[in-house]
Amino acid sequence: MNIIFLGAPGAGKGTQAEKVSAKLGIPTISTGNIIREAIKGGTAMGLKAREYTEAGKLVPDEIVIGIIKERLSADDCKNGFILDGFPRTIPQAEALDAMGIVIDKVIDLEVPDEAIAKRMSGRRVCAKCGASYHLEYKKPSAEGICDACGAELVQRKDDAPETVLERLKVYHSETEPLKEYYSGTGKLKIVEGQENVEDTTALTFKALED
Ligand code: AP5
Repeated sequence: MNIIFLGAPGAGKGTQAEKVSAKLGIPTISTGNIIREAIKGGTAMGLKAREYTEAGKLVPDEIVIGIIKERLSADDCKNGFILDGFPRTIPQAEALDAMGIVIDKVIDLEVPDEAIAKRMSGRRVCAKCGASYHLEYKKPSAEGICDACGAELVQRKDDAPETVLERLKVYHSETEPLKEYYSGTGKLKIVEGQENVEDTTALTFKALED
């Protein structure tokens, strides 16, 4: 099954993608994670992308479309994949169609802007492996330490409150129109994000079965 997760920054796309990936045994492709790895590695693409991500802006379409083209050609995508954070603009969705990729389900996670601000301020990520936690909703076993690899947990630079506001603004103008783009296909499923991860996951699984 080929699945897209749509939703505002911090709506829980990464969290739900991880659950679906574990259940269906298909990879999650997060353009955000790929870009952060490139920034950490100091690659040419990472250096270009950095100024955009840190300002809460979208990285230019041609860069992310190139990333996705390459990633989707890998062997592990043959039996399906989950796109977390792509497409984020109409030209990106059109590029996916032009690649001949057939999408089975588009899950739109709906969370009000006020709840997003709270989630983002409490998010902590592992500086080494990138695993994601929350001070209230998904605590690590030992404070400030990653359960998976034992490294330090830090706040993402783009989770600073003023950058979150900019990301939300960009989401409403650039990404939200994708709901309209996919609504005519019969593949769009709306999932109302709940106050906890488990309840949201139950709704996500139901939406995938419908
Ligand atoms: P990206 O990493 O994709 O950031 P994002 O979309 O802003 O999404 P997040 O990772 O912030 O949130 P999420 O929805 O995955 O939520 P999560 O599950 O972590 O992109 C970063 C940047 O890269 C972009 O700003 C852009 O510059 C660039 N970029 C990436 N893709 C691009 C593209 N296609 N085109 C152009 N530029 C691109 O959850 C958030 C927190 O809430 C966590 O702490 C979690 O534990 C908690 N939580 C989750 N679910 C719940 C729940 N139900 N109840 C309570 N807490 C919850």
